[in-house]
Amino acid sequence: MSAFHREKVLSVRHWTDTLFSFTATRNSGFRFLNGQFAMIGLEIDGRPLLRAYSMASANHEESLEFFSIKVADGPLTSRLQRIKEGDTILVGRKATGTLITDNLISGKRLLLLSTGTGLAPFASLIKDPEVYERFETIVLVHGCRQVSELAYGEQLVARLREDELFGELLQDKLIYYPTVTREPFRNRGRITDLIASNQLFDDIGLAPLDIDSDRIMMCGSPAMLEELRDMLGARGFAEGNHSEPGHFVIEKAFVER
Ligand code: A2P
Repeated sequence: MSAFHREKVLSVRHWTDTLFSFTATRNSGFRFLNGQFAMIGLEIDGRPLLRAYSMASANHEESLEFFSIKVADGPLTSRLQRIKEGDTILVGRKATGTLITDNLISGKRLLLLSTGTGLAPFASLIKDPEVYERFETIVLVHGCRQVSELAYGEQLVARLREDELFGELLQDKLIYYPTVTREPFRNRGRITDLIASNQLFDDIGLAPLDIDSDRIMMCGSPAMLEELRDMLGARGFAEGNHSEPGHFVIEKAFVER
C-alpha cells in the first residue's frame, strides 16, 4: 500500500506574491484531528517530494484545504505554487501533530497565536464545534509583516461569521485579532510584545494572561515560538504533549527555506 493518497486539486487562490491556498479532494480513509498536519506534495520525475503541511480544513469537511508560502527556489513550493484545478497532489496517509485540544489541560480561554502560514492549523480548529464546547472564549491572533498577508485569515473568519452553524458560536466566543509589524494597521506589533505589555488584552477588553484560565496553542516563526516558550515558562506555564497535557502547545510553521 502506498504511503500517500493521490488527490485532485479543486481550487487554487493566490493571496499575495508569497502566499496561496488550495483545496483538494479527500480520500474517505484519510482521518485527522483538527490542528494536525500531514506530509503533502507532488510527484517529481516519478518520485514523491513531500513537506509537512497543516490541514486548514476541519475534519468534518469533505475536501482538504492548505495554506502555503511560495519560496522561489524552494524545491516543493516553487512547483506547488503553479498547481491548477485538476492537477494531482500527494497526501500522506498519516496525520500527526501537537496542536490538539487533548494536549491541553482544561481551561476557560484558548489563545491561538500564529504568524504567517502558522495560521493554518487554527483555521481548522476554529471550525471545530468541540473547541467551542471546551472553551468559553477563543482568541485567534495572527501576526504578519504586511496587511495584505492577513487576507486569508480575514476571509476565513468573515465567512465563518456568516455561516449558519458557526455564526452564532463565533459571535459569542471567537475574538479575532490580526496584527501587523511593518506598516500601519489598527493593531500593530509583535505578538510577544503585545502579550508582555498587556496591549492585546487591553485591546480586546479582557483580563491579562492567567495560568488558571488560559490555554495556549502557537504556530509560526521559530523565533517567536522560542520567545513565547520562555515567557510562558517564566510564568509557570507548562508545555503539553501527547503523554502529558499542559498549559500550552507548540508547532513550528513548516516553512520551506
Ligand atoms: P517583524 O516584522 O517585527 O520581524 P516572518 O515573515 O519573518 O516569519 O515574520 C512573521 C511575523 O512574525 C512578523 O510580523 C514578524 O515581525 C513576527 N516575528 C518575527 N520574529 C518574532 C519574534 N521573535 N517574536 C514575535 N514576533 C516575531
